[in-house]
Amino acid sequence: MSFITIDQRKLHYFQQGAGKTVLWIHGFPLTGEMWKWQLDLPGVLHLLPDLAGFGQSDAFPDPAEPSMARYGSDLLALLDELEIGSAILAGCSMGGYVAFDILRSAPERVDAVILANTRETEDSPSSRNARAETIRATEEAGDVSDLANDMIPKLLGPGSQSDQSMIELVSGMIQASSIAGVVFALGAMARRPDSSDVLRSFSKPALILAGEHDQLIPREDAERMAHLLPQAKLTVIPGTGHLPAIEEPALFNDAISEFISDHDLSN
Ligand code: MLT
Repeated sequence: MSFITIDQRKLHYFQQGAGKTVLWIHGFPLTGEMWKWQLDLPGVLHLLPDLAGFGQSDAFPDPAEPSMARYGSDLLALLDELEIGSAILAGCSMGGYVAFDILRSAPERVDAVILANTRETEDSPSSRNARAETIRATEEAGDVSDLANDMIPKLLGPGSQSDQSMIELVSGMIQASSIAGVVFALGAMARRPDSSDVLRSFSKPALILAGEHDQLIPREDAERMAHLLPQAKLTVIPGTGHLPAIEEPALFNDAISEFISDHDLSN
């Protein structure tokens, strides 16, 4: 178990392997553990942080101005601390929004991107309203149980909805979220900018992964991102919902292995 300290906050991460770094950035409201099956991918250094307020990482103490940039700067501080110059960024959903921030602020630190179940657009007014309502309800409830009950059916695809061990894994990650962390993330997602320009100007290799039955971010979003990126490949993982990394890890990992070897990214 490893931590770095940033402004007196603890940021937790897990590290395994050796070689080119893959920085795995989890979705909302999960933890680095969502990538545990990706540790099977050989030949790379896996870095699995918990974003601030999730898992074992402390929340930001000053939630006034939530932004993806706060998460992005934490992850760049982690790379600095570990003396890693550049990495392959792999982001799921909100993790993709964080990856877009790093592409905007420090593109030279990124060798390639793997964007799973994410979208480059900003929130619609109705999504912003829904996030404000979730903030209100979560603060009022004072715990994340209702959030977990609401989200699990949306996160998992039809084949995983009754898989008890998967439900327990996802529920355990959600239960590890702090209220402050959830509130910050919802505010940051609501305020995030459109990142189409960032994708258009990223000319290094990109892999887009989508879940065939993703209810939260449909595959049309993935298709649009693949058109915006100058050098992208899109793979749809059959039978999965919003979390193919967990739901079909073998298929998900095969797509990534092929991407890494096609582009000779492991050196
Ligand atoms: C996520 O999985 O990170 C979230 O569902 C993304 C979002 O709400 O936009």
